Amino acid sequence: MSKTIAFHLQKGGVGKTTISGTIACQSAMRGVRTLLVDVDPQGNASSWFLTETPHFELADVVQGKCYVADAVVPVLQVENLFLLPTFGIGGGLKNYSETKLAEEPYVLQDLIQELSQDFDHIVLDLSPGLGRLERSALIASDEVITPMTPEVFSLDGLEIFIDELTKLKKNLRAPVKHSRIVINSYDERIRQHRDILAAAQEGIFEVFKIPVDPVFRKAQEASCAPQLFKQKGRGLKVKTMNAVEELDAVIWR
Ligand SMILES: Nc1ncnc2c1ncn2[C@@H]1O[C@H](COP(=O)(O)OP(=O)(O)OP(=O)(O)O)[C@@H](O)[C@H]1O
Ligand SMILES: [Mg+2]
Repeated sequence: MSKTIAFHLQKGGVGKTTISGTIACQSAMRGVRTLLVDVDPQGNASSWFLTETPHFELADVVQGKCYVADAVVPVLQVENLFLLPTFGIGGGLKNYSETKLAEEPYVLQDLIQELSQDFDHIVLDLSPGLGRLERSALIASDEVITPMTPEVFSLDGLEIFIDELTKLKKNLRAPVKHSRIVINSYDERIRQHRDILAAAQEGIFEVFKIPVDPVFRKAQEASCAPQLFKQKGRGLKVKTMNAVEELDAVIWR
């Protein structure tokens, strides 16, 4: 059965795109047909994985300007990985979410349902915030996993997110699961990071961590999957790879 996961916290820059993209690659690399959907008007996931601008984007699909099959493109370097892109420039998704989305809040849920016939794992990369677009993406997800950086403001952000999600769930057709968080850019040498991790582990969430690793940024700059990126023979740290594999092994169950 197909599963759709969104990585979300309304706070910016916590690693939503990095974790979405990396997990989508990891899932595809072990042979699962995987789709990454770029639901962020900034189009960061698309500029990460594409070197050429495709003909169509997500905004075209939801407005009926093309078939979904015309907009989904393969990520050439990663077998089994596909992308439903968004162009950062042009503002198609932003315009759509500001004008039409209010009338059709379930449009992404219907689209994901269609895509789940074709893809076993679907990952949604969302923009920061909790507006109409993010809400409709959460409605479309089986599970939302919250990435956060190890800082006090992220813990505050998590509380706000839980509160907002609880309100949102009242209006959902199907409840989205929210029981996991990922502490991203974790550095065990920093005491504050260890304290935030300990505080997170005291709560009700299953807690994962992804170490701080400069290879993520370098891979993004090189339009490359982090798992495939090598510079001077070196790629992701072993502990980063282990953390990515652990997350991938658990979340799709
Ligand atoms: N584990 C990590 N180690 C080192 N750098 C990281 C890590 N995770 C993310 N980064 C870097 O942090 C920056 C922000 O990450 P990212 O774009 O994934 O955040 P985001 O939550 O998607 O941001 P936005 O809210 O703008 O969509 C990027 O430059 C990325 O390369
Ligand atoms: Mg992002």
